[in-house]
Amino acid sequence: MSTALVIVAAGSGQRFGSALPKAFVPLAHRPLVQHTLDMLAGWETPHSVVLVVPEGWVEPARALHHPVGTELIVVTGGDTRTQSVQHGLGALPEGTTHVLIHDAARPLVTSAVFDRVLDALVAGSSAVIPVVPVVDTLVHRDMTTGVTHGGVDRDQLAGVQTPQGFRVDLLLKAYEEVSGDYTDDAEVMRVSGHIVDSVAGETLGFKVTYPEDLERAEAILGRLSGPLVGTAMDVHKFDSTSVLHLAGLVWPGEPGLSGHSDGDVVIHAIVDAILQAASLGDLGTHFGSDRPEFAGADSAVFLEHAKKLVADAGLEVSSVGVQIIGTTPKVGPRREEAALHLTSLLGAPVSLTATTTDGLGFTGRGEGIAAIATAVLTPRAGL
Ligand code: CTP
Ligand code: MG
Repeated sequence: MSTALVIVAAGSGQRFGSALPKAFVPLAHRPLVQHTLDMLAGWETPHSVVLVVPEGWVEPARALHHPVGTELIVVTGGDTRTQSVQHGLGALPEGTTHVLIHDAARPLVTSAVFDRVLDALVAGSSAVIPVVPVVDTLVHRDMTTGVTHGGVDRDQLAGVQTPQGFRVDLLLKAYEEVSGDYTDDAEVMRVSGHIVDSVAGETLGFKVTYPEDLERAEAILGRLSGPLVGTAMDVHKFDSTSVLHLAGLVWPGEPGLSGHSDGDVVIHAIVDAILQAASLGDLGTHFGSDRPEFAGADSAVFLEHAKKLVADAGLEVSSVGVQIIGTTPKVGPRREEAALHLTSLLGAPVSLTATTTDGLGFTGRGEGIAAIATAVLTPRAGL
């Protein structure tokens, strides 16, 4: 298997509306297309990289920094994306068996997506695309009258991203068979009768189309530049009719805590701190009492979901510190066990301590338990 990556960067960016071609517009002080090249440093390096640029941009493209060990072949594109892809395919070195085709306009796609696409090719796919769930409600719209028609089941639909992976022989043949313009290469394969498989894309794979998309990318990169910290507290009152769930453990013989879910204040504080650090809202935003599916839920579910939200935002939890405040239960004997359990649930070190409040306040009076958590988040590996 000999793999090449074709990055199409030859569009003018009409909807973006800049004097520079869109792929050369600065994002965090570097040309948009540089971000994809930088990502290659952390990815299993393809055998060759073909960069397709607008007429007159070959020299600036050669001046881009690209990972050592990868030959950067620069060619000029055509009037349409389809033509640009064909120019790129025409420059593939002899013997290339598989190709990934990627839009330079998707600068934040992580190596994880490239890996998934490549893995599918290794496993035998002829064509594979990364897809994301559709989040907006969708309608059909009469373009003349503006009247809308519902009944679109978005669960059956997906948004398509790049990189898209193909067997080179089949893709070249497919391109010979079709004519016209296509917004992606998988459609060319479908039209030629091939099955196109899919793997999970990611929200970071969005395309910079309008100026506000660049602002979003800038904001995300700014957020990714350093560690992020969140602090959050949670309190639940005792409810002696239930059994205590605390720090992911069951505490037989101890009074339970009230709450919409299992009332685990420790996990709730941790999830809140994580979401806060990532600026993703809070517990209520994602698991509020308006979500009946979370009634009585094992709080570990919240933790799992928060981890996914954070990963989708390009971040990962680096560590968490949490303090339990209350008179009962006696945390000391199970402190290590609880910290280890939380560490394994989170996949990042969790340090746990406990204190009392010298008999003062609601915790001192034994009315409930409080927990305060601090979470530190860092950019996800591979970004
Ligand atoms: N592309 C290309 N050659 C073209 C048109 C598009 O290589 N003639 C590339 C773009 O550079 C981009 C990707 O295809 O990386 C996706 O296209 P799009 O986002 O539509 O970019 P533009 O065509 O440049 O934008 P617009 O449609 O707004 O003009
Ligand atoms: Mg276009």
